[in-house]
Amino acid sequence: APIQAPDLGDCHQPVDVPATAPAINCCPTYSAGTVAVDFAPPPASSPLRVRPAAHLADRAYLAKYERAVSLMKKLPADDPRSFEQQWRVHCAYCDGAYGQKLPADDPRSFEQQWRVHCAYCDGAYDQVGFPGLEIQIHSCWLFFPWHRMYLYFHERILGKLIGDETFALPFWNWDAPDGMSFPAIYANRWSPLYDPRRNQAHLPPFPLDLDYSGTDTNIPKDQLIDQNLNIMYRQATRKAELFMGQPYRAGDQPEPGAGTVESVPHNPVHRWTGDPRQPNGEDMGIFYSAARDPVFFAHHGNVDRMWHIRRGLLFPGDTDFTDPDWLDASFFFYDEEARLVRVRVRDTLDPSALRFTYQDVGLPWLNAKP
Ligand code: C2O
Repeated sequence: APIQAPDLGDCHQPVDVPATAPAINCCPTYSAGTVAVDFAPPPASSPLRVRPAAHLADRAYLAKYERAVSLMKKLPADDPRSFEQQWRVHCAYCDGAYGQKLPADDPRSFEQQWRVHCAYCDGAYDQVGFPGLEIQIHSCWLFFPWHRMYLYFHERILGKLIGDETFALPFWNWDAPDGMSFPAIYANRWSPLYDPRRNQAHLPPFPLDLDYSGTDTNIPKDQLIDQNLNIMYRQATRKAELFMGQPYRAGDQPEPGAGTVESVPHNPVHRWTGDPRQPNGEDMGIFYSAARDPVFFAHHGNVDRMWHIRRGLLFPGDTDFTDPDWLDASFFFYDEEARLVRVRVRDTLDPSALRFTYQDVGLPWLNAKP
């Protein structure tokens, strides 16, 4: 059976957050009794949102994007569309906050839960209908669909805030040489796109290592770029099952196995960006806080773009699994009207039906077969 959207009333402190993290509340706002609507794609006549490469974004675009994010950051913290709530959505789905039925108002028992879990690197979680199992959308075949819809709603909320139906998030074009450094639009400390918790040694134009494992290499930049292109070729052209990640069904243990792009470069880019002065590489370097950094959305824009390219261009349709346990897996998000929406994986497959696409910037790694 497919993984089901969680019971939002059962959100508790995240159990996978390391003990060295500050005490946080990961639970998106929810009032008991809220009824979810089923997802419907936007009308086919609505404008296509064209996501630009972050390093090519012009001033007018940047001003719009900054205004939208600053408005999102100013929404009352309990508005499901606020930036504050947006990162919680990610945290709740990634750190085991949905599942275990603990008294939600007893902070001490929560604290015990995540400390105990981290101490033993294993713990008891509950998935809806499966006591003892958590919901985890990483390291499995839900990775691309879940993040696609997370960005979809984030983008539409931003667009709504500035009254622009064409607004599209930028993507960090790390698969092309010109995008292989931290995107400068996020590095201005007076911008709402800024986050102080980042690796200060990796500011632009420091070259990005797509295979970063915690220490900077000293290979020359040209070589690093070639290596990055080889990695892209290898990871993006693996067969569909390996590309998407392993099956994960109701009742399964979490993290059956990551897809190729999720393992590399998705994970290394998170780590490369996070701040080594923080206990867990916050913000980008660890799940619970990753989406507190606005660059998360540009990073995941490109992750999503890899799926889009793979499915639409390289091997048309080859990632459209027919397994109902995949197609009918479901999640909850809040939309731009603050409505609670139930999305199924089958709703997520086709970006053009979702009315977004990506700026065409070429695929230099296509000729970089290792
Ligand atoms: Cu949900 Cu890049 O992580």
